[in-house]
Amino acid sequence: MTNPHLTHVRPSILQITPYKPGKPIEALARETGLADIIKLASNESALGPSPRAMAAAQEALLQVVRYPEEYDLKAALAEFHGIDPQQITLGHGSSELFVHLATLLLGPQRNAVYSQYAFEIYPIVVKAAGALGREVPAMGPHAAMPFGHDLAAMLEAVDRDTAIVFVANPNNPTGTHLEYDELAGFLERMPQHVMVVLDEAYVEYLGDPYAQANLQLLQHFPNVVLTRTFSKIHGLAGLRVGYAMSSAAVADLLNRVRLPFNVGRPSLAAAAASLQDTAHLEQAFAINEEGRRYLVASLQEMGLAVLPAAANFVTVALHNAQAIYEALLAQGIIVRPLKSYGLPDYLRITIGLPRENQRFVAALRQLLARGAHL
Ligand SMILES: Cc1ncc(COP(=O)(O)O)c(C=O)c1O
Repeated sequence: MTNPHLTHVRPSILQITPYKPGKPIEALARETGLADIIKLASNESALGPSPRAMAAAQEALLQVVRYPEEYDLKAALAEFHGIDPQQITLGHGSSELFVHLATLLLGPQRNAVYSQYAFEIYPIVVKAAGALGREVPAMGPHAAMPFGHDLAAMLEAVDRDTAIVFVANPNNPTGTHLEYDELAGFLERMPQHVMVVLDEAYVEYLGDPYAQANLQLLQHFPNVVLTRTFSKIHGLAGLRVGYAMSSAAVADLLNRVRLPFNVGRPSLAAAAASLQDTAHLEQAFAINEEGRRYLVASLQEMGLAVLPAAANFVTVALHNAQAIYEALLAQGIIVRPLKSYGLPDYLRITIGLPRENQRFVAALRQLLARGAHL
């Protein structure tokens, strides 16, 4: 470090590769002048938010002179999940909760375990906290869940300095997921000094039995934190609301390190209203199911290998992924290249509305037909 004013920057922070989000529509419009752009790049909801959530956010805008009050959302979440409000911690998106967990548990003498090809934010928060990240090789490409978490190897990577194990279920960007029994078996063998963070940003896309069953893990294992978000099936990514469910003791500690008022009034109101709109959530689920079937079938018809698709995206193997990404961009279709995840030969496509999925499929089909020129 040559700049004296940067002398005390934590060395581990210099090892962080900055997070590169999917390209925003506005950026592509600025760069190309294109008007008709579709974004299938950041796993946002195809359907968008509930009209009831939008109305609640607008009404809450009238009160923004006041600091937010989170009582209603916590009460709504507690009722929705059948847990105590004291077990809930709200976050500015669920990503913020990973930062608080790292603040709580990590430091220079500690390590955190996560899988190869898991969500890109884990190594960032671990290194920001000055701790060591232990990335465990994922399952091979021919496993039943290609590139899924290797739970046995993750257990082996745990030692007495391990403070957190991150498990993404379903995982982004591989679309793999774990069954309840696998998770329970893993937790039974996990030493008690390790906090297991189950990142369930996409769990609702697995359907009810899964989303509800995993809550039982909280009753059996005090060292489990479940994180969920309003950014995906609720369609509220721009409002930044996530939450953690844990023992009341862990929630109490998380509340000590988070800053007060970390979720704004319109966001709180929209989230609470969205939870009540079960018809909208069911519609979002159904649109995703239909889109997934269509995309997977279309990609397979083109002879392409598709990874498991448990969430609201489909990840597909393509030899010339970067060239195809760029060619799609030129046509106003934004998808997500996965080079930063160590998967340079894959593209991740968020499941969109039928017309968006069809436009993507038609464009890809044409590009592949022109293959040699890419
Ligand atoms: C696996 C996973 N976890 C967590 C998140 C975080 O979402 P948010 O911070 O918007 O709640 C994402 C977002 O893409 C994700 O893919």
